[in-house]
Amino acid sequence: MWGGRFTKKTNPLVEEFTKSIQFDKKLARYDCIGSLYHINILKKANLLTGQEYGKLKSGLEEVIDSVENGSFEADLSFEDIHSYIQHLLEKKLGKVAHKLHTCRSRNDQVVFDTKLYCLRNISLTLNLFSNLSKKLTKLVNDNKGLFIPGYTHMQHAMPVSLCLHLDAYVEMFTRDVKRLSNAFDAIELTMGSGALAGTIIDSEKYSSPKSGLCGSLCSPVNPIDTVSDRDFVIEILGALSITSMHLSRLAEDLILWSTKEFDFIDIDDAFCTGSSLMPQKKNPDVLELVRGNTGKLYGNLMSVLVMMKGLPLSYNRDMQLDKEPLFDSFEIIQKELKVLTKLAPKIKFKKENIAKQLEDECLYATDMADYLVQKGVAFKDAHMIIGKLITSKLKTGKEIKKMKDSELKKFSPILTNKAMKKIIDPKASVASKKSVKKRSAK
Ligand code: ARG
Repeated sequence: MWGGRFTKKTNPLVEEFTKSIQFDKKLARYDCIGSLYHINILKKANLLTGQEYGKLKSGLEEVIDSVENGSFEADLSFEDIHSYIQHLLEKKLGKVAHKLHTCRSRNDQVVFDTKLYCLRNISLTLNLFSNLSKKLTKLVNDNKGLFIPGYTHMQHAMPVSLCLHLDAYVEMFTRDVKRLSNAFDAIELTMGSGALAGTIIDSEKYSSPKSGLCGSLCSPVNPIDTVSDRDFVIEILGALSITSMHLSRLAEDLILWSTKEFDFIDIDDAFCTGSSLMPQKKNPDVLELVRGNTGKLYGNLMSVLVMMKGLPLSYNRDMQLDKEPLFDSFEIIQKELKVLTKLAPKIKFKKENIAKQLEDECLYATDMADYLVQKGVAFKDAHMIIGKLITSKLKTGKEIKKMKDSELKKFSPILTNKAMKKIIDPKASVASKKSVKKRSAK
């Protein structure tokens, strides 16, 4: 690539240390798409004849076909995917391929390719998200009318509908989708940065309308910024990290619910694994790995943030190190979304065990206080009255539901057995929460 300037061959250790083809081979398709745009620009600028353009175009299309039909195999002895595809075309087409690199630098190419990779993978991820949200919504609908204890500080708080609990994840996913869509919209595809200062081709020759995967293309306002900008990678890694945190929390809820101690759910055998030693074990390994992978996602974000922080303008080779974390985070999230989409609909709720937990009368303490408030008692006083009632219940072990009016009157003259029986009911408790906005069906 740069033989003219050098009098010595590159040391094999340097080649091995600096190459990126082992991971950037994933950019092959995007590199060819970029080259198709590039030859069009060269033709418009009279730097390629119609015939040369035709030859390069069919050569590039052949490479794209081979990537799409799976027969493309990158030769890992090359430095990166950009130089390998250049070599392939030289082999296929001869001298005309030497013109491909006119007015172009890999510094610009790599940004373009990575942006195209991001656009494609954001789209894929958004589709996978929509599949998972649909399955979660189905799980919610299949278990309509099921109530569970709601928790704060991992202690019984108030009854909630299972719907509301699971729908919280659908809400998180809605925000995740928005974040990724914003990152998609923020990606600006440009060409014409050259190595850092621009090229000899007029700016307007670079403008090209949106086509397929590729958004509209233009020349850069500041090529120094373009070749040294990795904000889009960091934004995506940030968005994927937040997604990973959400998936991890969902996994954690399900892991807890599947413990003997909770015993709220059963996860399908096909989505659990056993133990080589303990015959009874059924472990939620999938969910544990979803939780565990979050560390990798955060690490990927950190590695790019730290890699970028001290770089002087413009392109520096350090920036090659953005690819592995980016690919890794996308691949992990996509795999997780796929497996959770299959696992979620198979979750069985153990209604009897859940109902047993709902018998805990402490879950209704706030409802009792609210009852007093509605009868004109100040909330702080109501809190004190019910606090004392609960303490007495916990001390004596006597159920509030079974307390006679005379016993209840010791705490407040307003409390009656009839009222308590009505209050200690998950359905009534949930129905009393009127501030929750009804949402149009998802
Ligand atoms: N493989 C490099 C990367 O991914 C691009 C090569 C740029 N090299 C150069 N010497 N300018 O960032």
